[in-house]
Amino acid sequence: MKQQVQPAEGKLGILIPGLGAVATTLIAGVFASAKGLAKPIGSLTQTGHIRLGKRTDNNYPKIKDFVPLAKLEDIVFGGWDLYEDNVYQAASHAKVLDQQLLDQLKPELEAIKPMEAVFDKSYVQNLDGPNVKKGTRWELAEAVAKDIEDFKTKNNLNRVVVIWCGSTEKYYEASDIHQSVEAFEAALKNDNELIAPSMVYAYAAIKLGVPFVNGAPNLTVDIPALVELAKKTKTPIGGKDFKTGQTLMKTILAPGLEARSLGISGWFSTNILGNRDGYVLDRPENFKTKEVSKLGVLEDILRPDLHPDLYGDLYHKIRINYYPPRGDNKESWDNIDIFGWLGYPMQIKINFLCRDSILAAPVALDLALFVDLAKRAGMSGIQEWLSFYLKSPQTKPGLPAENDIFKQLIKLQNTLRYLMGEELITHLGLDYYEEA
Ligand SMILES: NC(=O)c1ccc[n+]([C@@H]2O[C@H](COP(=O)([O-])OP(=O)(O)OC[C@H]3O[C@@H](n4cnc5c(N)ncnc54)[C@H](O)[C@@H]3O)[C@@H](O)[C@H]2O)c1
Repeated sequence: MKQQVQPAEGKLGILIPGLGAVATTLIAGVFASAKGLAKPIGSLTQTGHIRLGKRTDNNYPKIKDFVPLAKLEDIVFGGWDLYEDNVYQAASHAKVLDQQLLDQLKPELEAIKPMEAVFDKSYVQNLDGPNVKKGTRWELAEAVAKDIEDFKTKNNLNRVVVIWCGSTEKYYEASDIHQSVEAFEAALKNDNELIAPSMVYAYAAIKLGVPFVNGAPNLTVDIPALVELAKKTKTPIGGKDFKTGQTLMKTILAPGLEARSLGISGWFSTNILGNRDGYVLDRPENFKTKEVSKLGVLEDILRPDLHPDLYGDLYHKIRINYYPPRGDNKESWDNIDIFGWLGYPMQIKINFLCRDSILAAPVALDLALFVDLAKRAGMSGIQEWLSFYLKSPQTKPGLPAENDIFKQLIKLQNTLRYLMGEELITHLGLDYYEEA
């Protein structure tokens, strides 16, 4: 049965805390694609197809023609940052895209100026900027809510979503004040330091029923209080951490090795990057947040508890090294020690010369468009079907995450089929061989 999905009428606002490399690459890329200056490669919503019905039907519509999604021309961007640079300046500074392309988009990019941020230096020690709101956390949440509403009115928008593209906050774990909406609101009012800036944005958005996705590995919406609030206000939420670069490769390769019952004794991952993200991650307390997000992936895919002979002794190590000369053009190396029949060892080496924000921008776009779809489809709370895009997918407490990218894709596609009343595809395929 087809679910009730409201059409994507009018304009969609995408508001972004953190107008750095990822956000500006996303914004410039959407403008460039909408104008036909470049192609939105890497975005499933813009270029992907979905199979409907039997293989013999040969019916593979584009995803954007199958589900009602906002069109690129109908997107209006805005955001917050502690630096005052407009998006043209910030994109030029990030040095991800060619200056020539940015110059062609200069008027639109310059027009997007960051609103004052909610910032607390103790969460991101390596940054300090002037464009920051003042007040208690409660007052700041109210100010962010006002920003969202003003942005909506000023731009005549039908809907808004918020995508966190801000820096990675320091590592910390949830405590009592994060366990219920009541405790969380009391802590906001007491200006409790255990509420991170990202949570202030998230609270303000969710309270208004505005979908929120977390592209960084911070806790942010991954706390009972904000999950509870999201259910109450019928708001879809998701996180954490855009799946790009080395972890993308890991979740492509590891399921294949596991599928063929090949053993792994070690997986050493190291990389160099020189953008501001790398600078923030140079501090151990911020790196720890990233490390935790990256480490869980292999364990979830390989399940050493089920396969002690294959993965019981796996040594997994991850290193991120800040190396300014490379800027956003990260280089990563993986050395994977595997073993096969009778325990004979082999090695795999991966040397990925990637561009971090080029991989992240389409992920952020798809998450924004899909979370808006989720809202129009009446879905609320954690959107696990979007884990395809995330390094450390948020799930219901006690529910193990699915990190295998191929299973995540099947989950995403079946969710779209479900919403549109199409038959789910199990890939069983015995029916093709049944006698007529
Ligand atoms: N690029 C990728 O492939 C990738 C992948 C996964 C996750 N991420 C995460 O996405 C985030 C953005 O990455 P980036 O490369 O654009 O980093 P960046 O440093 O270029 O941009 C982050 C921006 O956020 C701003 N910021 C920090 N705290 C803020 C706050 N409280 N409010 C508003 N603005 C704030 C910073 O001033 C900066 O401009 C990082 O957390 C990164 O770890 C990136």
